[in-house]
Amino acid sequence: MARDPRYDVLFEPVRIGPVTARNRFYQVPHCTGMGYRMPQTLAAMREVKAEGGWGVVCTEYCSIHASSDDSPQATASLWDEEDVRAQALMVEKTHRHGALAGVELWYGGGVSANLYSREASLGPWSHPAAEGPEQCRAMDKADIRALRGWYVEAAERAQRAGFDIVYLYACHEYMLSQFLSPANRRSDEYGGSLENRVRLLCELIEETKQAVGDTCAVAVRFSADGPDDGGDSEEPQAMLEILADLPDLWDIVVADYSLEMGASRFVKEAALEETMAWVKQTTQKPVVSVGRFTSPDTMVRQVKAGIVDLIGAARPSIADPFLPAKIEAGRPEDIRECIGCNICYASDSLGVPIRCTQNPSMGEEWRRGWHPERIPEKTSDRTVLVIGAGPAGLEAARALGQRGYSVTLAEARRELGGRVSRESTLPGLAEWARVRDWRMTQLNQLPNVEIHLASELDSEQILEFAADRVALATGAAWRRNGTGRWHKTPIAGWESANVFTPDDVMDGAVVPGPVLLFDDDHYYMGGIVAERLRRAGLEVTLVTPDGNVSAWTRLTDEQWRIQARLIELGVRLETGTVIESLGVDEAVLACAYTDRTREVEAASVVMVTSRAPRDALYRELAEHIDIVPIGDCLAPGTIASAVHSGHRYAREMDAAPPDGVPFRREHALAP
Ligand SMILES: Cc1cc2nc3c(=O)[nH]c(=O)nc-3n(C[C@H](O)[C@H](O)[C@H](O)COP(=O)(O)O)c2cc1C
Ligand code: SF4
Repeated sequence: MARDPRYDVLFEPVRIGPVTARNRFYQVPHCTGMGYRMPQTLAAMREVKAEGGWGVVCTEYCSIHASSDDSPQATASLWDEEDVRAQALMVEKTHRHGALAGVELWYGGGVSANLYSREASLGPWSHPAAEGPEQCRAMDKADIRALRGWYVEAAERAQRAGFDIVYLYACHEYMLSQFLSPANRRSDEYGGSLENRVRLLCELIEETKQAVGDTCAVAVRFSADGPDDGGDSEEPQAMLEILADLPDLWDIVVADYSLEMGASRFVKEAALEETMAWVKQTTQKPVVSVGRFTSPDTMVRQVKAGIVDLIGAARPSIADPFLPAKIEAGRPEDIRECIGCNICYASDSLGVPIRCTQNPSMGEEWRRGWHPERIPEKTSDRTVLVIGAGPAGLEAARALGQRGYSVTLAEARRELGGRVSRESTLPGLAEWARVRDWRMTQLNQLPNVEIHLASELDSEQILEFAADRVALATGAAWRRNGTGRWHKTPIAGWESANVFTPDDVMDGAVVPGPVLLFDDDHYYMGGIVAERLRRAGLEVTLVTPDGNVSAWTRLTDEQWRIQARLIELGVRLETGTVIESLGVDEAVLACAYTDRTREVEAASVVMVTSRAPRDALYRELAEHIDIVPIGDCLAPGTIASAVHSGHRYAREMDAAPPDGVPFRREHALAP
């Protein structure tokens, strides 16, 4: 199919200094949890994006010098010639498909504590690192001269690696944005007045252009509303007026990372527009910005309205590396849209290879050889019965169908999607239904997959069906008795209390107030169920042993928004507290640190503690037929884990069992 002419503008080339991007699709810098540790894994992942049609593919933040690391996160690095070789791998693979390669030169400054090198960090003034007890050393003039030299040397290394775009990273609280910040009150020519604070960035742009500007475009990543620490909103504009046409490209973000990389629960597509729309009036140079763009119509609107020249994307390119190619081929309905869950960011923050809820091949391109679009054809005529159409079952059926197997998908409920359909009805989570919707669109194109709704199968029916293989994707149920991390055995008195689970709430159970919600899960479910019940007018107290509500969501960059929302809604928060025992209408709460207890009234209790796999059919049938539990039925976890599990089941159908380690590893070299 030909592309819709409405989208032609997205495929126009854009000149960026000495180089030209083949189209307007621009993968902005994003980390991967791989960094300097896994160059081949990383290069294979970036290659897939170039193959998928992105005009520009960038690295993650890339340390310019051994005096700045961000451990335990794995940044990229360009410290020496060995790093040049590692980066050249990614560049070569990106170029192979006609994309430009960009590198985001990074110097952490005082926010990074240099936990790897143990060097004292440098900063415009001495201040605490983002985390932990370390503070940086204030830079003197010799340090600033050295830093400028390191930038130039790193830019030259980037040029030797073959990069087309070299970034100066002047936002996100790192070194260069600290110099820009009004908190920079240095008394020399690099601090105090706005002109002084902008001086270092100005010098670096000029020196980088002088060093590598013959072949490389010089880009600046910059916040449209100033640095995080209370910047004056007029300041960025004044700074941009000074720097206006110095770089070859402006990559514009905002100070609040939880808005820039907002979770869909709080932030929708194109959310930066209002804050950054002024930028193009201040510069002649091309502008790229972000906004979790998955709709080609929104992209076209932003380009035609003169808001951006290039469509920046991190998460949309992770969820669907072939997004541009699908628009080009006139198949925009096949785009696997990002759901805004930020699991990609969580893995990066945990220092493990990136993963994605929507795209199970993300991070698996090299080590397992998975491609987001291609999958080997079937190698037998086996028939497969997939029981349960949640995220694991849908993905297994879809991928098996794509391989050509004859598949029957049986779902007990009247709709597809399982937990995804149910959870997407919770406040703000509507976009999570995209996990189901994309798979339904694909399944509709596969005549070899038959779908049966309202078809709950028992063991006899499964035996009678006589499929060659059965995948059990029946999910997991939230436990009612309070067992989980804190309580290894059921909470005393739970049988006599009026206990509900998140499953009951999502099924529309009438929950009487006042409600006591016990969150020992620490991800989104406790906080979001509390929000839903409070919005229904109930008095709600959220009890959790952690010091914060929904503590794990710190990794998806939404924890403070969740806590703020619950406070604003009037949910009572009892952090550092657990439920010790339950009665008919009351509960005993205990301090998580001392043995202090107190009694509270509770007409109902919602337990958000742990889940039990629904695997009874597996235990009944495992001895008799080829049946495999997948997804939450195998091991309850994130939706990303469930999708991955379903995909892996399909990939491994008819494959020989792995011999030893089931994926390739990158080894540190023994001397
Ligand atoms: C997993 C992940 C890692 C990121 N790492 C970086 C980074 O290394 N450097 C950077 O400037 N921004 C980083 N970002 C921010 C993105 O570049 C981007 O500004 C943000 O995700 C919003 O764009 P999107 O809505 O297209 O995802 C990261 C974002 C994600 C999701
Ligand atoms: S993990 Fe979630 S937020 Fe990240 S790219 Fe995938 S779907 Fe989007």
